[in-house]
Amino acid sequence: MIDLNSITDEVVGEYDLKDDRANQLVHTLIRYLHGYAREVQLTHAEWRAALSFLTRASQSTNESRNEFSLISDVLGVSSLVDLMASAEGATPGSVLGPFHVHDSKEQANGFDLRGEQAGTPTLFRGRVMSASGQPLQALIDFWQNADNALYPQMDSTQDYHNLRCKLRTDADGTFAFRTVLPQPYGIPEDGPVGDLVRQAGRTCMRPAHFHTIVMADGHLPVTTEIFFDHDPYLETDAVFGVREKLITHVHTVTDSAQASAAGMPCPFSLVEFDFHLAPQAPATR
Ligand SMILES: [Fe+2]
Repeated sequence: MIDLNSITDEVVGEYDLKDDRANQLVHTLIRYLHGYAREVQLTHAEWRAALSFLTRASQSTNESRNEFSLISDVLGVSSLVDLMASAEGATPGSVLGPFHVHDSKEQANGFDLRGEQAGTPTLFRGRVMSASGQPLQALIDFWQNADNALYPQMDSTQDYHNLRCKLRTDADGTFAFRTVLPQPYGIPEDGPVGDLVRQAGRTCMRPAHFHTIVMADGHLPVTTEIFFDHDPYLETDAVFGVREKLITHVHTVTDSAQASAAGMPCPFSLVEFDFHLAPQAPATR
């Protein structure tokens, strides 16, 4: 019969999912949940409060907003999974976030994403290489927010494709394109996640960043973010996405010859970053 000693094993025994990995995931989850309840001696009122938090999360979730993703982000689970998936020698991964789209237009290397819009004119350039430093011809999927700190999904005045593109590096792995500096922004704070973050005395702000997914044949793709060393939110990112290797310096270029060679106004900001991809593991038979 079920009692305090037997209940965890009894529950686990009721879930045979006919798949070893699924069983491992579900059985371990049950054991950790039960272990948590035992360790903190969970009360009825506290469990009801937890369920109420999740209910409010579902009520805050819609087509353009997923409060459960935010829970994962602010509890550091998204970043933990990113770090576990980061390959040795490769650029560390960081959060994908909710603003990636799959149908960005492919643009030529050197493209101008900036156009006439407001913001600090910025040249973003670098190389994509293997973990051992060999240049790779790669595809970079890029997106960022605008000078008003909004992504196109949050701002009907922006074109759907504003400040996002796919871009192929040259054979030597180099890439360059013109854009504006992104801005820090806050995660949505009008739902239960915002309440939790505020109660903890944390900020909902994220440091400014470029988003990239970098892909090359025979290599593991890297989904990551590039941050800037002047940013006031680097140490307190609401979603724990900052890694030391992802922080770059923004150079201010005041040399007009350099500006005109780069097709930039003078002065402009220069961000340089090299990506490293690890080889795909050979297929196992
Ligand atoms: Fe972002």
